[in-house]
Amino acid sequence: MPLPILVTGGAGYIGSHTCVALIEAGHVPLVLDNLCNSSVESLARVQRITGVRPLWVEGDIRDAALLQRVLAEHRPQAVIHFAGLKAVGESVREPLAYYDNNVGGTTILLQAMQEAGLRNLIFSSSATVYGNPASVPISEDFPRSATNPYGRSKLMIEDILGDLVGADPRWRVARLRYFNPVGAHASGLIGEDPRGIPNNLMPYITQVAVGRLPELQVFGGDWPTPDGTGVRDFIHVMDLAEGHVAALAHLLGEPGMFTVNLGTGQGCSVLQMVQAFERNSGRRVPYRIVPRRAGDIAACWADASAAHRLLHWQARRDLDTICADAWRWQQANPQGLR
Ligand SMILES: NC(=O)c1ccc[n+]([C@@H]2O[C@H](COP(=O)([O-])OP(=O)(O)OC[C@H]3O[C@@H](n4cnc5c(N)ncnc54)[C@H](O)[C@@H]3O)[C@@H](O)[C@H]2O)c1
Repeated sequence: MPLPILVTGGAGYIGSHTCVALIEAGHVPLVLDNLCNSSVESLARVQRITGVRPLWVEGDIRDAALLQRVLAEHRPQAVIHFAGLKAVGESVREPLAYYDNNVGGTTILLQAMQEAGLRNLIFSSSATVYGNPASVPISEDFPRSATNPYGRSKLMIEDILGDLVGADPRWRVARLRYFNPVGAHASGLIGEDPRGIPNNLMPYITQVAVGRLPELQVFGGDWPTPDGTGVRDFIHVMDLAEGHVAALAHLLGEPGMFTVNLGTGQGCSVLQMVQAFERNSGRRVPYRIVPRRAGDIAACWADASAAHRLLHWQARRDLDTICADAWRWQQANPQGLR
């Protein structure tokens, strides 16, 4: 059996889909998750999809002794580090929780890896590190900034990783900047399962369509965009998951650090997404335009050419597939997995 890939946060939305992609590529995922924002049922679902149950440890990345034991026992060949908190609004209210979990947790993970002689890491960064970009599409050399503690935690971790590679060139690090992951596995068995009112557009749309929420709130109809609503780069979560498999192959082949955007390279407005969803679900999604949210930006999409060049990867699934898959997941799991 090949040495496993440690997947922190692997029971979560992107992590569970990445477990599917890893298994399909012949890897053995070993999930470490404290279930603060997920359910272990997602791993049972990964097994239903692939026939393989990921190795599983319930625990926290801030638990140094546990990490030491897991690394010694399983000798993983690399770590894909998804574990973290991700709600922007919550990070403004509870900054310490975000710095503790995201920055503190990552430092403890990196220390444990260093002690175990394991220096291969893929980190979940975000397009949020570009702040309010001067233009679109956004390439990796754009200036970085943060407007909230969540974004700042990602900036800090990117810098910590840069310092680490600078100090010890044996580290191999991928900093992957995700744009807007949406959709679900085509089986409808795993998908995005937020707690409370969703922060992200797609689960909001699907919860309105399934009758859990009365209407979609669209934040701002007066942005300088073709239809006045915000424009984002929505990437199918399975494309994103496959991007990790490509990044892993590159990482294991070449030492050093690389930073790439994972997006489609195309912008789609909120209203275009609503229309695509209605077309693919046959459901109406009533919406109301409300004032802009503080900290939001008009338009954000990736220059996706570096990932294509370096990783030989690009997003393949279109907007119709995204909507059909998200709807299949929501219909089969109207209350999510919890
Ligand atoms: N979903 C997005 O829109 C998006 C965009 C850009 C970047 N990201 C980043 O990608 C990563 C995964 O995001 P996601 O959407 O799958 O989120 P998610 O909340 O579904 O998954 C994160 C997982 O990490 C676990 N976790 C959190 N803190 C932990 C800790 N201290 N120890 C162990 N497990 C812990 C949670 O239980 C959850 O299962 C996060 O780092 C997030 O910041 C997400």
